[in-house]
Amino acid sequence: MKSYNIPVADLITADKVQAQLHTKIIGHKIHAFRSVRSTNDVARKLASEGAPDGTVVIAEKQTAGRGRLGRRWESEFGKGLWFSVILRPDLSSANAGLFTFLAGISVADALFNRYKIKAGLKWPNDILIQRKKVCGILSEAEFDGNKINFIVLGIGINVKHSLQHFPTMLHEQAISISMIHKQPVNRAKLLAEIFSRLESNYFRSQNEGFKGILADWRLKCQHLGKSVKVVHSSTEIEGIFDALADDGSAIIKLYDGRRKRIIAGDIIHL
Ligand code: BTN
Repeated sequence: MKSYNIPVADLITADKVQAQLHTKIIGHKIHAFRSVRSTNDVARKLASEGAPDGTVVIAEKQTAGRGRLGRRWESEFGKGLWFSVILRPDLSSANAGLFTFLAGISVADALFNRYKIKAGLKWPNDILIQRKKVCGILSEAEFDGNKINFIVLGIGINVKHSLQHFPTMLHEQAISISMIHKQPVNRAKLLAEIFSRLESNYFRSQNEGFKGILADWRLKCQHLGKSVKVVHSSTEIEGIFDALADDGSAIIKLYDGRRKRIIAGDIIHL
């Protein structure tokens, strides 16, 4: 069996997180694993078997962590927070794509509240520190007619990595909390803070819709009004990132003045 260089005392357990918890639902049920293929896959299965609103799946390692657009997500043992939250909002399916933005502002606020780190947001699902990626979000939904049955909000945060823990090809693009915050990071406390922020934004979305959440996202967006390149499959366009539309799509103002709506792709900040 492979041994990992992490003291047992540092492993995340449901008890450690729950000892810090101030929420009404998120994190009251936590399934914690040493290793899974993907916490999103485990959470989807639990959700389809009836797991309650706010159930969390967390793992020290993922062997097949998934990112957006079918990419792989590096999830080394003990280095990050790799987790998925099951939500059961009473909302129409049209709102499902907006949970990515809800998660983005929640994680950014938690980083500020705990470490005074000012993280920026990049459309649609990245959280950046010093223009490098510290967190990615993979929100997946299942529907019942035109209603949301459940959302699985998958969140991956690089926490304890030094540069050499990332594959060389990511050295220019990835960062961890420890690379910025020079003191030890208590992952259970950070997780509990994220659950609090997620829950208050979740309740806000249920009571008021997503207007305020999208407004908060726009305030933290790093490239609003700036020149960007958008890459998707084999297409590339350049222009100004003009707006985040209310349905979560990106509005790019091309240099000839036309506006284009983009629903998927990668933003490269020029
Ligand atoms: C991205 O940036 O493309 C999204 C990355 C999402 C990674 C998290 S880690 C926990 C959860 N389980 C997964 O397989 N993916 C998400």
